[in-house]
Amino acid sequence: MSSRRSFISQLGGALALPAFLEQAHAEGFQQLTNQVAGLSPQQMATNEDYWAWIKNEYTVSPNLLNLNNGGVCPQPKAVQDAHIRFYQYCNEAPSYYMWRILDQGREALRGKLAELAGCDAEELAINRNSTEGLNTIIFGLNLKAGDEVILTKQDYPNMINAWKQREKREGIKLVWLDFELPRENDEYFVERFVGAFTSKTKVVHITHLINWIGQIQPVRKIADEAHKRGIEVIVDGAHTFAHLDYKISDLGCDYFATSLHKWLCAPFGSGFSLYQKG
Ligand SMILES: Cc1ncc(COP(=O)(O)O)c(C=O)c1O
Repeated sequence: MSSRRSFISQLGGALALPAFLEQAHAEGFQQLTNQVAGLSPQQMATNEDYWAWIKNEYTVSPNLLNLNNGGVCPQPKAVQDAHIRFYQYCNEAPSYYMWRILDQGREALRGKLAELAGCDAEELAINRNSTEGLNTIIFGLNLKAGDEVILTKQDYPNMINAWKQREKREGIKLVWLDFELPRENDEYFVERFVGAFTSKTKVVHITHLINWIGQIQPVRKIADEAHKRGIEVIVDGAHTFAHLDYKISDLGCDYFATSLHKWLCAPFGSGFSLYQKG
């Protein structure tokens, strides 16, 4: 007859085996990555062994050519399997697995994300996507009628609509920039933002990589100019986290949010936002 103790220890064993296999799989990939570490981008591009491994990790349809990896990226099979497995565990004993077992991984995950992001774990909040993170920030800022916010016609609609809602409800003033893109000189962006600053400007909203065209904005330079005038900086990092090589602390912004289901290929409905203390 199975006792409570043996039931729990069997489930523990079931948890450990897939984790062990995943660890071995990850080590295999790490070895391959080490082998190609010194190659030039051109050599990497033609390294068929490496790309065959990457291709085999994904389960994308052979019948559809997916050209949109920006909205959400597909997840590697290992991520899909882990996601499904933990969901099934939760349904075997919901309160036990969700609150006693899986919850133990929450802070560890936050620490690893903070390491990847180059920030303090205490600054980072895990949530469902960039939209949730940025809207929480936008609606949470202490602004009053007449305060000015600078944003651009090229920002993402979900954030534009959140700002418009604050304009309608509270009378904050939205100051719009409209860029002619693409641009290769940073000064174009810095001058446009600086030219729009007034004594009433409280916030600038910057889309790090503009999704419509792939334009990267010089966030650090704009943020430095804003901070000289006591203006806070929000960065929409939906398309740069795990895509461009940088740490969030390099940006010098006050607030940042991103989605993890884009370039990091994490489960759908995952993201984080961040407030950097000074
Ligand atoms: C620049 C930008 N910001 C925010 C988002 C919203 O991302 P999500 O739907 O993951 O919240 C997107 C989506 O593609 C985007 O391109």
